[in-house]
Amino acid sequence: MQSTHSLHTHDCGVLRASDIGEEVTLTGWVWHRRDHGGLIFVDLRDRAGVTQVSFDPELSGSEAFSTAETIRSEWPILIRGTVRHRPEGMTNDNLETGEIEVLASSIEVLNTSVTPPFQIEDHVDLSEDVRLRYRYLDIRRPKMTKALKLRSDFSFAIRSALHNRSFTEVETPILFKSTPEGARDFLVPSRMQEGRFYALPQSPQLLKQLLMVGGVERYYQVAKCFRDEDLRADRQPEFTQVDIEMSFVDQDDVIGELEEVLQTAFASMGVEMELPLRRLSYWDAMDCYGSDKPDTRFGMEIHDVTDIFAQSQFKLFAGAAADESLFVKAINAKGAGVWPRGQIDKLADVAATFGAKGLAWIAFREDGSVNSPIVKFFSDEEMEALKAEMDVEAGDLVMFAVESRLMADSILGGMRSHMADALGIERDGHDFLWVVDFPLVHWDEDAKRYAAEHQPFTQPYVEDIDLLETDPLAVRSYTYDFVMDGYEAGGGGIRIHDRDLQLRILKLLGIDDETAEEQFGFLLEALSFGAPPMGGFALGLDRVCMLLSGADSIREVMAFPKTSSGSDLMSSAPSEVSAAQLKELSLRVVS
Ligand code: AMO
Repeated sequence: MQSTHSLHTHDCGVLRASDIGEEVTLTGWVWHRRDHGGLIFVDLRDRAGVTQVSFDPELSGSEAFSTAETIRSEWPILIRGTVRHRPEGMTNDNLETGEIEVLASSIEVLNTSVTPPFQIEDHVDLSEDVRLRYRYLDIRRPKMTKALKLRSDFSFAIRSALHNRSFTEVETPILFKSTPEGARDFLVPSRMQEGRFYALPQSPQLLKQLLMVGGVERYYQVAKCFRDEDLRADRQPEFTQVDIEMSFVDQDDVIGELEEVLQTAFASMGVEMELPLRRLSYWDAMDCYGSDKPDTRFGMEIHDVTDIFAQSQFKLFAGAAADESLFVKAINAKGAGVWPRGQIDKLADVAATFGAKGLAWIAFREDGSVNSPIVKFFSDEEMEALKAEMDVEAGDLVMFAVESRLMADSILGGMRSHMADALGIERDGHDFLWVVDFPLVHWDEDAKRYAAEHQPFTQPYVEDIDLLETDPLAVRSYTYDFVMDGYEAGGGGIRIHDRDLQLRILKLLGIDDETAEEQFGFLLEALSFGAPPMGGFALGLDRVCMLLSGADSIREVMAFPKTSSGSDLMSSAPSEVSAAQLKELSLRVVS
């Protein structure tokens, strides 16, 4: 691309052999400088790439040459010169501009730089803390430049796909009231109303529902969301959603529309998505993969082998078979059966991190022998039935979980991911699917009450509404999660648009009418003014960009992310504030 309004005529990285002879002006940072007996070579870098600039005392002139002798890494400079073919034997096939160089005729030093704390290279071993402390230098590294560009491209693509489908972008406030997305709120004290607080939105959920009541019909927003929760590689306290809502729709309408929007946006990134996407019910996903966000690019599915052991001498398994609430489930990690016993024994510690009390296993050795602490209790028939069910071959490691359904699923789901990593199972390309039919609520053991599986505004299946008070755990909801490569990349649902049903669900969640009025009175009131049927979705922009760029943390696709303790290492936020500021807000810090 040729730049128009800029000090330079071309970006570094765009010049090719077809430009030979052209007079150009380039700006950028000195990346590497090499003195080659009377000739100076500078790799000049900008966001678009790198161009070799050569200084020759004869051809460039002595002034340019002597300035070139003084410049150092990371100084921004401007050079003028002529594109020419690199001398014989000096072309570089690994570089897009490797055939040419610019013979400089003049140079301007635009600024100097102190020695940077690290080299601006992709492949240097750097602690993340140092990178975050000097994030602006980290962003100069080509990999980060590329990641931010990818994010911008995807964001633009999905925005334009939505725009072209008659979605209206509406901005919603950041200073708002607490919305119950399940995390803790960030609070902002009001100066003008002493003792009162705004909450930063965990998502624009309630506001987009109100926009539907307002007749916007098709809304989207690239929205900042704030959640004060424990951070992980795929979680930040402040992140971005592509937030969408539609009215006069059912679940299939929303999913159908989203699939086409996502297909268009991913296509622009060179990623093909075949439609319709596969839909897995929540329980099928849990029972088969042990996760509500399964990576289906590899097998190692969970099998229910309870019935095989109904009459077993192995009391643990037979006991489970006799107890309706317990299951014996298993996975087969092909290739791990050859591991030494010590390595296999350590897997119990891994299983413990997923909640297992122990780990029963059978290693099928390459020589046909079997190594296991439990097989001595198995009959031949049980062993044969197990081998058939689990498709056992030499070299396999079968692991068991004996637990309640969901617990057994979760433990083996965790082990499935762990073993895939440990065995280096290749996961090529991208994997997209929907998980649907989530239960409306689950039992929160800590709070001793039902909690919304997705959020409290989700529409239950009409045919399950009668079970709301008698068997709430059996009530399914119109909820859909968009799963990409084993991550929850997005989620949404059909909303309740009936005030009475909304109150009934809030009651089920332990929120009485009075509290409901206080917290969501404005929503309940709006529902009574002819709220249309509505549903929507939010795509986790950071997570999708992380997966598209092949990174393993969303911090790699965010310009200024926070550390796991919520700090910004560059500015030292959060920081103390002055006594005067606190006084103005009527706040006192109690240590
Ligand atoms: P949900 O809470 O599932 O739904 O969020 C939607 C998507 O946002 C991403 N996400 C995050 N990304 C980074 N850091 C975080 N802390 C974080 N939390 C969530 C995930 C997730 O799938 N209002 C509903 C959407 C709706 O029903 O329309 C909502 O916010 O990719």
